Parts: sequence; C-alpha cells; structure tokens
Amino acid sequence: MVSARQRERLKRRRARDNKPRAAPAEDDTHNDDEEDDRGDRFQAYADYYKRQKLFPRSGDHVAFLRSLRAPLPATFRRNGLRPAAFDAAMATFDAVAARCRGDVVKTLASGAWWRLDLGRSALKHADDPALRALNGWLQAAAKGGGVVRQELVSGAPSELLGVRPGDAVLDVCAAPGSKTSQYCETARLVVANDADPRRAYILASKLRSLGCSSKCVVTCHRGQAFPATALKFDRVACDVPCSGDGTVRKIPSLLKVWARPGRRLHALQLQIVLRGLRLLKVGGTMVFSTCSFDPLENEAVVAAALRACKGAFVVRDCASLVASSPLLACLAPRPGLRTWAVLDDGGAALAYDPAAKRERRASMWPPDEADIASQLPRCLRFYPHDSRDGGGFFAAVFDKVAELPPGTADAATPREARAPVAGYRALDAHRARAALRAAPPELRGRLLTRSPAGAAARTYGAVA
Ligand SMILES: C[S@@+](CC[C@H](N)C(=O)[O-])C[C@H]1O[C@@H](n2cnc3c(N)ncnc32)[C@H](O)[C@@H]1O
Repeated sequence: MVSARQRERLKRRRARDNKPRAAPAEDDTHNDDEEDDRGDRFQAYADYYKRQKLFPRSGDHVAFLRSLRAPLPATFRRNGLRPAAFDAAMATFDAVAARCRGDVVKTLASGAWWRLDLGRSALKHADDPALRALNGWLQAAAKGGGVVRQELVSGAPSELLGVRPGDAVLDVCAAPGSKTSQYCETARLVVANDADPRRAYILASKLRSLGCSSKCVVTCHRGQAFPATALKFDRVACDVPCSGDGTVRKIPSLLKVWARPGRRLHALQLQIVLRGLRLLKVGGTMVFSTCSFDPLENEAVVAAALRACKGAFVVRDCASLVASSPLLACLAPRPGLRTWAVLDDGGAALAYDPAAKRERRASMWPPDEADIASQLPRCLRFYPHDSRDGGGFFAAVFDKVAELPPGTADAATPREARAPVAGYRALDAHRARAALRAAPPELRGRLLTRSPAGAAARTYGAVA
C-alpha cells in the first residue's frame, strides 16, 4: 500500500528526473535557491572542485556541474559468460525497443554496450506502456544473466587491465562484482575479495548467477592484509573504497552528507594499493581506480605509492590504448592532475603538520619529486560531461618492473600475511568440495572453504 506522502515524493522525483536541470551561469555557479531547495551540499562540492582546478577552462567547470545534476541514463552490456541467455534476451529486444517513441536506445563502444536515453528512475516509474515494457525487458534480461546492468565508465578498468587467457587475477575490492565478471570472461582464475562479509556473500551469489563459478574464488580479507600465497597474480584490480563523489548522478543523496572526504580515506587506499602491488608478479599489471574526483583519493595515492615503491612500478601512458579501445575512446578520459590543494573542513588551504597525523599525511600534498610528478598526467580522469553522459571515475595503470623494496609499508601483520586464503565460494558442503577440487595448484595448502557466515563458521576443508 503506497501512502499519500510516498505518492507525493514519487511524483516530485519523476518531475525532477524528467526536467532538464537549469544551467549554472558561466561566471557564477552559486544558486542559493537550488541549494536551499534540495537541502544538500552541492555548493560546497562545487566550490571544492573549483579550488582543485580540475579544468583549465571555466566553461568546462560549468558543464561539469551541470552534468552532475542530470539523471544518469541506464546502461547495460552483453554478458560474455552467458551467450545463450544473451541471445535469448536479444531475440525480443529490437521489437521492444522499436515500440518506444524517439531515439531512446543507443549502442555504444562498437555494439558491446547499450544506453537508454532516459534516467534510471524515469525508466522505472514510466507511465508510457512502451517504456514500461522496455524496463520489464531489461529487468528480465539482467535476471536471466544475459546482460549486466553496469555504468559505462565502470567498464574502463577491464579495458585497462587487459586480462589475457591464462591469467590469474586478484580483484582486491570486488563487491558487488560487475567488474569481476568482466575479468572472468578471459582469465584462468579470478580471486574476488571484499572485506565486508555481507558484501562478499552478495558477491558470491552475483558471480554465480553471472556464470563465473568455474573460475572464481570469493574471499573475505582486508585488502591491505590479503594473505601472501605461492601464487603471484598476473593482474591485480584495486577498485578501492572511496568517497564515491563521482557517482552523485546515480546517488544524488551523497550530496546531502558530502564533506571533503578525501583526507579520511587516503591512508587506507594507499595501504591497499601497496598490498596489491606486493602480490602482483614482476611484469604484471595493476589498475588502481576510484569513483571519486578528489585528487587526495587519486593522484595523491598514486604519488605516494610511487614514492614508497622506489621505481618498482611505473604509471603507464595509456594514450594508444585509449585510442584503440572503442569503450575508452568514447569515454574520452582527461590526464591526471599534477597539482592540487589540501583543504580543511571550512575550505581553507592546509599546510603540512607532522603533529596532525591521521588527516594530514605528507603524502596528501602534491609531490616535489620531478620523476613522480611527471607520471601523474598519465592517470585517467573520466568526467560525466566528457564521457557520453556517464558517471565520474579515476583510473591509473601500473606496470610492475621490479620487486618492492624490503620494508615497503603495506598493512599486513605477519600473522595476517601467513593466514589461509579463506574462500567464500562454497555456499554449501557440495560446492565446497567442488571448490577444493577446482583450486589451482598454487593455492594448495592455502585455501580454506567455508560457509558464508564468516571465520567462525563451519570449515569444509583445506586443499592438501
Ligand atoms: C568501490 S567498491 C568496489 C566496486 C566493485 N569493484 C565493482 O565494480 O562492483 C569498494 C569495495 O571495497 C570494499 N572494502 C572496503 N574496505 C575494504 C578493505 N579494507 N579491503 C578490501 N575491500 C574493502 C567495500 O566493501 C566495497 O565493496
């Protein structure tokens, strides 16, 4: 039963999603009415990113802010792991799409992705029977595993990681798992990890429904302390926990609580990156990514990792990869920043203070070292107004060229580093036995499979 208040809220949301946003004026992005009306912190957000000088031209800043207020279009891609389900779904797609008025459906990235030219909420709450049928088709196709509903820009790490057949991949922060399922399309083995037991459980179910089970082991460890195994990975994905402030089109409520969050996550992000690099093979590739625009969560982490690793990896120049990948080319990333400001909660510039440890680490400031600073523009920044009407994102590709120097400070305690890799893949005894049989030789003696309830739950066995 829907209450009058819920109906009213729904009506307001539909009206808002269908209405084009008012463009901020060229020279003044402040709009008091808008901010008061929404009760959010859009203005603080806009000011923060103006101070960070994300764009050389002020017109770009305006277009950027305007794009953040527009609803995010629904996008989906083919699931290569379930070709029969995909073909079955697509058999009816053209007929359903043809009933919609206007040019609602677009194919992107050489036909591998689809975008619907209306907001997710507008699609969900559409009155038009043709749009309702399209929404029904999308839900059924995603449930059947033939297509994956995923943001266009979230497909970038898979293109950048370049997983090859035969590769062992570690996805350090994997839930809910859309990117993981892309790695599974090519890899020999994917270890999909997430520190949150509840999310790891959801991850295991999602990966199973997408057809990843035969080559995927789900684990639940703190990424910064992921146990060392005899297996070093060919590819590591570090899609680290972040403020998510590039996703405000998808989750506008983030703006209600936004408070310059980069300083709080910087240290954890760096630890996860260093652990990922430690577990990567020399000659292997790692992609570090966030869905934040904040340089403290992005370039500052890259610079700090370069400093700590003393030449053990380089940031790759991705220009030719971007030009040759239909998806990356249509996302049109911009270069990373070389400089930025560290601001306090009131927006004043902070100076480094060794006494204020947690939220003012020296590594948050732009690097002085020329060899580090010169690599930062090779990072990739994805903005909504550039990237085919998508979300915000940041990525950097690291090529490991030597072992990390001894004593590089990731956060694994010696006990954690020696712990067994606890596999979540087994949701019952039968699957546990299958997981143990399928485990690759490199994980022998290191893989435990157990029920999803966590460390204290029943252990089914260890690979001998
Ligand atoms: C940005 S999300 C990952 C999104 C995922 N890669 C995808 O594409 O579906 C970050 C994830 O990191 C997990 N996480 C948070 N702290 C972590 C830690 N210390 N180690 C590993 N994972 C962590 C969160 O539970 C969350 O699921």
